[in-house]
Amino acid sequence: MLAFSLAYICLLGIASALPLNSPLLDEYDYIIVGGGPAGLTVANRLSEDPNVNVLLLEAGPADVGEDIIYVPGLIGHDIGGRYDWNLSTVPQAYLDGNPRSIPQGRALGGGTLLNGMLWSRGGREDYDDWVQLGSPGWSWDDLLPYFKKSETYSPMQSETVAEQYSSWEDTSVHGYDGPVNVSFPHYTWNASINLFEGLNELGVPTAFDPNAGDVAGASYLPFDLEPLTQSRATARRAYFDTVVDRPNLWVVTEQAVTQVLFNGAQGNPDASTPVSTTMNLGQGTSPSTRDSIFGQGSVLNISSLPVDRPTRGSLAKRNILSTLWRRLRLSFNIFRRQTSTLPSPTLIATGVEFAPDAQSPRQTVRASREVILAAGAIHTPQVLMLSGIGPSDHLQHHGIETLVDLPGVGNNLQDHMQVWCWAPYHNPYTPNPTALNTDQAFVNASWDEYWTRRTGPFTSGAIAGVAFPSLPHITSPTTASSLASLAAAQLPALYLSPSAATHPALLAGYSAQLSLLAPALASPSRAAYELINANDGDLTAATMRPLSRGTLRLASPQPFVPPLIDPRYGSNPLDLLVLRAALAFNARLIATRAMAPLAPAQTSPRPGASEQELDAYIRARAQTEYHPSGTAAMMPLALGGVVDSELRVYGTGNVRVVDASVMPVVPAGHLQGVVYGVAEKAADIIKAANGGLVGGELGDGQDLSEPMHLAPDTTAAPQASPAQVDVVTMTTFLTVYV
Ligand SMILES: Cc1cc2nc3c(=O)[nH]c(=O)nc-3n(C[C@H](O)[C@H](O)[C@H](O)COP(=O)(O)OP(=O)(O)OC[C@H]3O[C@@H](n4cnc5c(N)ncnc54)[C@H](O)[C@@H]3O)c2cc1C
Ligand SMILES: *[C@@H]1O[C@H](CO)[C@@H](O)[C@H](O)[C@H]1NC(C)=O
Ligand SMILES: *[C@@H]1O[C@H](CO)[C@@H](O)[C@H](O)[C@H]1NC(C)=O
Ligand SMILES: *[C@@H]1O[C@H](CO)[C@@H](O)[C@H](O)[C@H]1NC(C)=O
Ligand SMILES: *[C@@H]1O[C@H](CO)[C@@H](O)[C@H](O)[C@H]1NC(C)=O
Ligand SMILES: *[C@@H]1O[C@H](CO)[C@@H](O)[C@H](O)[C@H]1NC(C)=O
Repeated sequence: MLAFSLAYICLLGIASALPLNSPLLDEYDYIIVGGGPAGLTVANRLSEDPNVNVLLLEAGPADVGEDIIYVPGLIGHDIGGRYDWNLSTVPQAYLDGNPRSIPQGRALGGGTLLNGMLWSRGGREDYDDWVQLGSPGWSWDDLLPYFKKSETYSPMQSETVAEQYSSWEDTSVHGYDGPVNVSFPHYTWNASINLFEGLNELGVPTAFDPNAGDVAGASYLPFDLEPLTQSRATARRAYFDTVVDRPNLWVVTEQAVTQVLFNGAQGNPDASTPVSTTMNLGQGTSPSTRDSIFGQGSVLNISSLPVDRPTRGSLAKRNILSTLWRRLRLSFNIFRRQTSTLPSPTLIATGVEFAPDAQSPRQTVRASREVILAAGAIHTPQVLMLSGIGPSDHLQHHGIETLVDLPGVGNNLQDHMQVWCWAPYHNPYTPNPTALNTDQAFVNASWDEYWTRRTGPFTSGAIAGVAFPSLPHITSPTTASSLASLAAAQLPALYLSPSAATHPALLAGYSAQLSLLAPALASPSRAAYELINANDGDLTAATMRPLSRGTLRLASPQPFVPPLIDPRYGSNPLDLLVLRAALAFNARLIATRAMAPLAPAQTSPRPGASEQELDAYIRARAQTEYHPSGTAAMMPLALGGVVDSELRVYGTGNVRVVDASVMPVVPAGHLQGVVYGVAEKAADIIKAANGGLVGGELGDGQDLSEPMHLAPDTTAAPQASPAQVDVVTMTTFLTVYV
């Protein structure tokens, strides 16, 4: 009863796109490019200091509280829609030669609007590998305080359910007053119980608290979920709506940064010139997306949902408050510190150029301290290259003047590669996600249950109750160790793209990674892949330690032409072997005593398929698990790195990257929790570095080719901006469930 009378503030401020030419200041202390989980975290933390002004520019819009975003049961339905960049890869030569769609969030909140809501951090040793690869200060122990800082964790509500899944709360690894609500759905698909027991039967243990760093095993992952309303906790909700009234934080939507400006000049005239093109976003979503992402059996037909939510009296959704906030402030800020001029040849960013689309005139805005790139693993390297920072031959090819010849930019692209498998349960003796597709009465009742009591199937995604097996868990010890020895014996140059393979630093970096990945594949305590269970017989497998390395390149010097994304899935054939082992294990799993009552009947791949057939199946089906990363890696220059261990771009004094791009090696987990932790730590690094002066050292810059200056430094000691009235108009709809 009490629960029903609680007022749930579900939504959310809506930051309207600021009209051009109006309310921006001329200059900010910090400019953040991209409003995903990384960018919003940094914006929130930096603007804690009332003496600095922070601007965040986001290419996409703010959401308006759509059910397809906030209702967990509708996960996946906003892919390919208004908040997706609609990107595709180039043809995947090592698979079947076809391109793949690669959904990425384009909205305030970035990928946290589209993602599967699973909350995990990967394993302890995954971060110790980052340290091994030359980044002191980034071990698990170093990051754990920041993982904790990002979350408000609530354990499973029901002790019975927690018992069923061996879901134990390790209070030493969780945070209890951070911005992101992390909790469990009020409904669990019971088929996960069979799955966990089946895994245990075959020797895959249960990882009791999957966020404690020991991930190898089955685990019921928490979700980024507000526990009372059972609705998605996006980055925007966690890190922006909570500080929307800060007078020193400007968040602008529907403005894409086209290049970073250095020393007062534009490096890429092509980026500055509006062009009449309609190609502003991705290459288009391939038609197979909906088929393979969340399986075929359990994809809810969204048009079968009752049009209305239950309207029983007080439970109706009402916009009870719609208000305009006007924030008036003077930009004349007596606390503003002066920019100090750093000695040549360090490149100093002085601001950014931005526009809503290709056709529109570009605007500029100045940064007095730092520019922080947080545009995600696809767009951050694109912006760097558009700005003249990247592999010089590639920049030259596009007529972009090289400011810093930084070969690592856009290399080292990693992704967890997943392949969908299907063994539908013919006896789903308990409710099963397939029923959301086939049983209209079940849909109706579940929908009603969600809106009236915040329980039932719509509180959860179909994907829940997963596993992160190690290779020794699923193969014989000899197979596991022989795969690892194969990895250790590989000649790294054979597996990189031709341009990376001939570059000494890139080759050295990949060799160093292989020497860490090979023993990880042999370790019984480190995950080799993820078994993604959608509770209906959909048993997807995704590599967790990919050995393949892809590339991100410009297709054009024009910023609104989508970049060329080449994950090079399967270019290291060991990734295919790991998936082949996972598929063989699936066949054993569905034959266990615990799974038998569900009557699984494998159809894809064909039961009894030969190894050659399995390989062909994988090549035809493999696609992204939506975890692109590594394209501006935190490693020493000598290993092909792009940022140092303080996330500063080599060769620049005041440009940092804070997002999934900086991961040197992708951890064995889902990435949002990792990104939040990295960004929380980055915010502390940036605050510490700016206690005094702007900028810092030139990485360990020995190997840099001489950075070329576009123009004399025109930015020395900028004057305080002229007094100017800033009117930021915020429209806030507070949708309240009472
Ligand atoms: C479909 C899908 C499912 C996923 N499932 C899960 C899951 O279940 N669990 C999990 O932990 N993770 C999941 N992820 C991954 C997770 O969401 C991402 O790793 C995370 O969002 C990355 O954060 P980021 O800040 O690095 O980049 P992003 O979230 O991509 O944010 C970058 C932002 O920058 C903006 N931007 C880009 N270019 C520019 C520009 N030039 N100017 C201004 N703004 C720009 C983009 O529009 C975007 O909003 C999923 C991702 C997707 C897409
Ligand atoms: C992505 O494509 C879909 C389908 O064509 C379209 O509705 C959506 O608006 C596109 N996304 C963006 C951001 O343009
Ligand atoms: C959700 O997180 C916020 C912090 O952002 C916290 O104040 C609130 O108590 C959390 N809700 C619950 C139910 O734990
Ligand atoms: C989805 O449901 C609608 C309405 O119930 C129906 O008309 C349509 O055929 C269904 N589509 C699919 C693909 O099943
Ligand atoms: C799930 O299983 C438990 C224990 O077997 C049972 O009590 C519960 O009713 C089942 N839930 C559903 C929705 O069938
Ligand atoms: C489901 O709900 C819709 C709309 O409320 C109604 O028209 C339909 O008859 C219901 N279907 C069933 C099987 O209950």
